[in-house]
Amino acid sequence: MEPQSQDLKTTPSLSLERFHISEDYGFLLPNPLKELPDHYRPWMEIANKLSHLIESHQLRAQVNKMPLLNCQFLKSYRQRRLAHLVLSFISTGYVWQEGEREPEEVLPRNLALPFVEVSKNLGLPPILAHSDLVLTNWTMRNPEGPMDIRNLDTVISLPGGESLRGFILVTVLVEKAAVPGIKALVQAVNAILQRSQDSLLQALQRLRHCIQDITRTLGQMHDYVDPDVFYTVIRIFLSGWRDNPAMPAGLTYEGVSKEPLKYSGGSAAQSTVLHAFDEFLGIRHSQENADFLHRMRDYMPPSHKAFIEEIHSAPSLRDHVLSSGNDQLLTAYNQCTEALAELRSYHLTIVAKYLITAAAKAKDKRPSHPPGPPQALEQRGTGGTSVLRFLKSVRDKTLEAILYQHG
Ligand code: HEM
Repeated sequence: MEPQSQDLKTTPSLSLERFHISEDYGFLLPNPLKELPDHYRPWMEIANKLSHLIESHQLRAQVNKMPLLNCQFLKSYRQRRLAHLVLSFISTGYVWQEGEREPEEVLPRNLALPFVEVSKNLGLPPILAHSDLVLTNWTMRNPEGPMDIRNLDTVISLPGGESLRGFILVTVLVEKAAVPGIKALVQAVNAILQRSQDSLLQALQRLRHCIQDITRTLGQMHDYVDPDVFYTVIRIFLSGWRDNPAMPAGLTYEGVSKEPLKYSGGSAAQSTVLHAFDEFLGIRHSQENADFLHRMRDYMPPSHKAFIEEIHSAPSLRDHVLSSGNDQLLTAYNQCTEALAELRSYHLTIVAKYLITAAAKAKDKRPSHPPGPPQALEQRGTGGTSVLRFLKSVRDKTLEAILYQHG
């Protein structure tokens, strides 16, 4: 059936610009800043030597001496994103400086007040999230050079040396690898609206190649991140204070609220990429897992969350493929879905290596007498979910979306 010209005019097409998604960098913040206005020098001085201050157990004392600064001199969006990155890194260092056995349960007002203010302004939670660790935390050594790991660096660091750098930058490269897929998705949604089967088929093929490229890029974790360093040094700083037995009551943000507040830790479950692919492909997760994943959307920049919701309310790709009776479309849809399940299977092997095997190794090394307190975060994700069960179910539900040819 041909579309009526009326429909074409009145149906708004989907665009990246409307959701502050970059043509070149996708959900990554384009050209993140490295410096704040001079007024914020006390924050930057701490942030620039954060790893050293944490490792030498001096961070809490330094933060306690920090002046209370007003957020009004943060003039641009990119300045506010850098301020959130800096304050989130300082906060996670402050809470976890002495490890999971002695977390600091009160964030002092000179840190808590500006952190909560800038968070409210950005619509982000006052905790280190994927949008800080990855989306805002990258810079090109040579701006004219290629976007590969040798030419990239982080803006702010944490303990973990080269492995921490690799963990952040490989994830930056995953976000970059997702860009053609996001564009393919937009092309596909518009192709459905305009009932252009050729354009839809081409978009689905592009999306499959992009998902396969994401899987290859994820493989660089093995080259740059040491599992022992990830497990014993880095992981703790990604922990949150919700569903975390090490901090059952949450964190008190002094001067903000008398009641402690609870927020999940940083995780690529907060990346918009797979949420967008899931919505587009019509993957239905179990209620419990969907609840967790939906909660993770509150840790994304609001315009990126709105993009996912827009895809959710766009005409259904699955319905379109089924009603088209077009075998090529059905095959292309299934190939995307299989590629996404393969990505998730590959991610599972990474999680097994970096969390489960590394945890067992760390346990072997730990002296058994006298027995220490239980390791609260062991074999649990940064969000406190029972990791492998969760990830396997998410992968299996992806496979369940495969469509069967009739006739
Ligand atoms: C050493 C590297 C990594 C480890 C140890 C790891 C670990 C985890 C864990 C434990 C979860 C469970 C949820 C949570 O606890 O927050 C998770 C979820 C997730 N991770 Fe990773 N992750 C790694 C790298 C990545 C990268 C680079 C991506 C980028 C695509 C990614 C994408 C996801 C997604 C999308 C989820 C949500 C579940 C899903 O939609 O399949 N992870 N990850």
